[in-house]
Amino acid sequence: MEYRFNQNLLNIPPSASLAVSEKAKKLKAEGVDIITLATGEPDFDTPAKARIAGISGIASGHTHYGPALGLPALRKRIARKLTEENGISCSADNIIMTPGGKYAVYETVRALITPAAGDEVMILDPAWVSYGPIVTASGGVPVDVELSFEDNYRITRPVLEAHVTSNTRAVIVNYPNNPTGCILSAEEAEVLADFALDHDLILIADEIYERIVYDGAKSVSLGSMDRIKDRVITINGFSKSTAMTGWRLGYICAPLPVVKMISLLSQHAVSCLSQFSMEAALAALDCEDDIQTMTASYLRRRNFFVDGLNAIPGVTCHKPSGAFYAWAKIDLAGRNSFEIADYLLDEAKVAVVPGDSYGLGGSYCVRMSFATAEEDLREALRRMDAAIRKINGGNEK
Ligand SMILES: Cc1ncc(COP(=O)(O)O)c(C=O)c1O
Repeated sequence: MEYRFNQNLLNIPPSASLAVSEKAKKLKAEGVDIITLATGEPDFDTPAKARIAGISGIASGHTHYGPALGLPALRKRIARKLTEENGISCSADNIIMTPGGKYAVYETVRALITPAAGDEVMILDPAWVSYGPIVTASGGVPVDVELSFEDNYRITRPVLEAHVTSNTRAVIVNYPNNPTGCILSAEEAEVLADFALDHDLILIADEIYERIVYDGAKSVSLGSMDRIKDRVITINGFSKSTAMTGWRLGYICAPLPVVKMISLLSQHAVSCLSQFSMEAALAALDCEDDIQTMTASYLRRRNFFVDGLNAIPGVTCHKPSGAFYAWAKIDLAGRNSFEIADYLLDEAKVAVVPGDSYGLGGSYCVRMSFATAEEDLREALRRMDAAIRKINGGNEK
């Protein structure tokens, strides 16, 4: 049988972070002592209050189809959170629940892109590995906008202008950023707003790491800017902020016509989320203490891990303002990021994700998650230091 597949899917690469995690798991199963820094997942349990709410939902028999757009009480509570914490003025009618943040991006892009019309979506690089494939799978054309490590990935008007065409429909913006840990400054938000208005574009703002920020930093929510609020679609969820990756809880906050369109797709592609998961989400919105404890722990780990990386010859790592990734540029005798990741896996037994998987701005970089046990992070530093010094010289720490 010769299968004929959707042409849009043929050139999609597999997820690089999943591929590295799988390879590391396999080596571990063979008895190799691997430390994995590749996974993008909190190393905490879901807060107890949320777990108990989920269990009680199951015990109460809330295991049937639920409301299509999500539990009304949850949508109302999310709207209150977005209004109070993010300055996005909205009501429950603007909120649609999705099975994870990833599917929120997918439904949004699907709703906006007309396959075969040549619709383009600009993606600020380095970017989370799934944006490009989601646009391609939807029949759109992803356009990589390369930002620069040396400039700490600052967004400027000239770099945006260099990539816009008459086919551009939207820009995907992700802050706090995976992989770089950068947040969106007020100045950059103004640049994006002017750009979107001048070219009549939609801004898709993925804010899934919004609660994981350090040193009092706050990333600007584009949806809070009055002059562009009708062209911003905000995406968020519970996976990262409240350690609920397995519950599959994401949401979209969008202008009403967009909610209507996405809800048509959702009715046929998802039906609804499980009700007990949404009950857990409702409880998670009142777990402020847990969120602060997790963030304080990430902060401690960020500080010693990034300092340790910068002490290795040839390694440069900006201190991330948000999310839980160290994004380091490694000068290793001309090796590219895939070769660097292979070298670290073979020589140091440390699994990291190659930066080139995150697009053009990721050359010579690797992503390492510091949502990893402290003793593993310290051991990974020791091993990487020894492995890199074998090539770059200098005495071992
Ligand atoms: C930037 C970004 N957006 C969305 C997601 C997806 O989150 P979820 O697990 O809720 O689908 C991730 C997960 O890694 C992410 O890094």
